[in-house]
Amino acid sequence: MNKDYLLFHKPYITEEEINEMVDTLRSGWLSMGPKTIKFEEEFNKYIGSKKSVAVSSWTAAGHLTLEAFGIKQGDEVIVPTMTFPATAEIVCYFGAKPVIVDIEEDTLNISLEQIEKAITSKTKAIIPVHYGGQPCDLDEINDIAKRYNLRVLEDAAHSLPATYKGNKIGTVSEVTCFSFYATKTLSTGEGGMICTNNEEIAERCAIMRLHGINRDAWKRYSESGSWYYEVVAPGYKYNFTDLQASLGLPQLKKVDEMWNSRKYIANRYTEAFKDLDLITLHTIKPDRESSWHLYPVRLNLDMLTVTRAQIIDELKKNNVGVGVHFMPINKHLFYSETFQLKDEDFPVASAVFPRLLSLPIYPGMNDNNIDKVINVFTDILKKYKR
Ligand SMILES: Cc1ncc(COP(=O)(O)O)c(C=O)c1O
Repeated sequence: MNKDYLLFHKPYITEEEINEMVDTLRSGWLSMGPKTIKFEEEFNKYIGSKKSVAVSSWTAAGHLTLEAFGIKQGDEVIVPTMTFPATAEIVCYFGAKPVIVDIEEDTLNISLEQIEKAITSKTKAIIPVHYGGQPCDLDEINDIAKRYNLRVLEDAAHSLPATYKGNKIGTVSEVTCFSFYATKTLSTGEGGMICTNNEEIAERCAIMRLHGINRDAWKRYSESGSWYYEVVAPGYKYNFTDLQASLGLPQLKKVDEMWNSRKYIANRYTEAFKDLDLITLHTIKPDRESSWHLYPVRLNLDMLTVTRAQIIDELKKNNVGVGVHFMPINKHLFYSETFQLKDEDFPVASAVFPRLLSLPIYPGMNDNNIDKVINVFTDILKKYKR
């Protein structure tokens, strides 16, 4: 590997995670067990949620939540187009229809107007996605949900930790699901968490994450457990493991420190790029704080002689890794064909997508790395100024 190449993301793993992992390996308990329970409890305390249920991924968390909501074949669930496909696919698992809607221009979060337009008698839920870590307009979304008797599942895959009007994401709506995938702001390699203020939802998800077993199934091989259990529903194999908790527990202790690092990097980028007219920076609304999982910028292509693909190539040649978040759902083959989605039905996402680029932003980056991104990116943009 080229040691000068700045990766787009690198998890922040220190001796603490390594020691905790070794301790787990020596303990003989690798799957769901005491460390998973501790991680759930500490996460719940950190967020201030009523209940937290740890699972194998955001996708599992979202699937279990929709199952607990009682989503069935023929139902409709509203999903923004600017997201990772997992947000829409969990709806398809039920034979239900993901109703894909456009986003708002400034934040790239789901458009309130488009939510209202998309509601029909079949609509059962809304999945707002906090794009890049910035919370959506949650008061308005919950108000719409109340008026039309819909459930809300926040896709907070990007937004640990983030706040909305002073409240931590994870405490605002009925259910919030987080991701601990390798690139996320707290990483357990793979993993997810369901936070909810509804105890019945928490209980259903806890049962369904481990084969539908009606009590502490994970304890059945422990000293205090019993071999006897009953299955109350055909559940899933979506449990978290103590191996994952070995990363999660130390990561949780430094979640604010990691957030501060990302805020520092975001501020440095914003300061460096604020007068550069070749790009447009992301807007953060004043009543909320982003987790800064992503630092998205929009290329002002009309002022440049090259496309985004050429800019990305040139960044890579200069040892700077970047990402694109996201190709809109309506552009993916399956969704466009199955639900007959056309670019012109998503004017905001269609216009912004070819311009989008995410710069590296993670705690292991030092000032030299940040300077490198700023200088290389600025030079490339200026080189191709029209
Ligand atoms: C917005 C969003 N939702 C959901 C997911 C799925 O998360 P997981 O990989 O934990 O299933 C991702 C993953 O990248 C994501 O970015």
